[in-house]
Amino acid sequence: MKIKVFFIAFIFFCTKISAQKFEGLALTPPMGWNSWNTFQTNISDSLVRGIADVLVSSGMKDAGYTYLVLDDGWMAMERDNVTGNLVPDPKKFPDGMKVLVDYVHAKGLKFGLYNCAGTKTCAGYPGTRGYEYQDARFYASLGIDYLKFDWCNTEGINAKEAYNTMSKALKTAGRPIVFSLCEWGDNKPWEWAENVGELWRTTGDISAVFDGYLDHGTWKQTGVMPIVDLQKGLRKYAGPGHWNDPDMLEVGNGMSVDEDKVHFSLWCMLAAPLIAGNDLRKMSKATNEILINKEAISINQDKAGMEGFLYKTKDSLEVYVKPLSNDDWAVCFLNRSHRPIQINYNWNDEIVTDTLFNKTMNAKEHAYKIRNVWTKSGNTDTKKPFAATLSSHDVIMLRLSVGISG
Ligand code: GLA
Repeated sequence: MKIKVFFIAFIFFCTKISAQKFEGLALTPPMGWNSWNTFQTNISDSLVRGIADVLVSSGMKDAGYTYLVLDDGWMAMERDNVTGNLVPDPKKFPDGMKVLVDYVHAKGLKFGLYNCAGTKTCAGYPGTRGYEYQDARFYASLGIDYLKFDWCNTEGINAKEAYNTMSKALKTAGRPIVFSLCEWGDNKPWEWAENVGELWRTTGDISAVFDGYLDHGTWKQTGVMPIVDLQKGLRKYAGPGHWNDPDMLEVGNGMSVDEDKVHFSLWCMLAAPLIAGNDLRKMSKATNEILINKEAISINQDKAGMEGFLYKTKDSLEVYVKPLSNDDWAVCFLNRSHRPIQINYNWNDEIVTDTLFNKTMNAKEHAYKIRNVWTKSGNTDTKKPFAATLSSHDVIMLRLSVGISG
């Protein structure tokens, strides 16, 4: 008996010491805004204040966008030569960072910063290698809530160890900070990061290109649809508190409104973090409406946290499905081609079985009510086939709810 009790206590102890990250930080995919996709390193005090103001006035905060994250470029080129601490660039941030963090917090938002596991960040600023515990204490002293941690200049460094070290450093510093691993999927973080951070990038950098790449000569930025294709097989690794991150949003950054709608819908279907990357201060009404579509967001933020998947493809019509709480489903029809497609989808012939989460969508057994997330209309159900014409690079996003007997 004594041995049994000892054994149970030992297992409990081991679970506790390996339970390294803060619990409960991102039970649904994190939502916010990040400076990189539009501003790169051209960031400043006034930009942060302006973005924080618009996060509130545009309805984005109400829709769930919480984190305002400054990406690469916030630091001076050198650490403080006495303390070794990171130094906010005094030209960009003449009053330092703490006042900005306070400003953002006072708006009911949270604040994030960026650094890198390597010796320097991707843009050449001081990296964290060798300063993990010191930097974590620095972030905690500033009141930071989110850290994006990149992977440039890491030759000879083991990714799992490097991210583990930073995760432990954050935990030791004592302030709950969402830890966003940005290692581009090179070392399959989905296989080892569930207990290290709250989200991990699965691919290289996104670009505002719909179905191709942006070629920079020595490297390529990946467009929206190739990134979606690369998520195949990863859904089993995501769930509440630990998310696959197919990179930040490019909504409002140059694609057509329909393409932006597709991009946003798929990020919702993939239970991806929704981190806007456009200049919120100048966004159009159409961009704003996409970003704050609460019905789409509720599919992304569904508390069961089950990532969706590509159910079938037929002649450039792709059908994505996502199981939701209460046996609801989200369904997206996407036209990937350059011509309009006529959809004739007989729900009774399409029995979707999700063996991973043990969910079935079977309209033959019972009909579902249908709600169109973008047109915000209802009044239909799955008793009759779904018919619509879908233009090129456009999407129809539906929520199917149980509640009608078949
Ligand atoms: C990498 C990341 C980007 C961005 C830049 C900053 O490319 O993947 O998201 O953070 O670095 O330099």
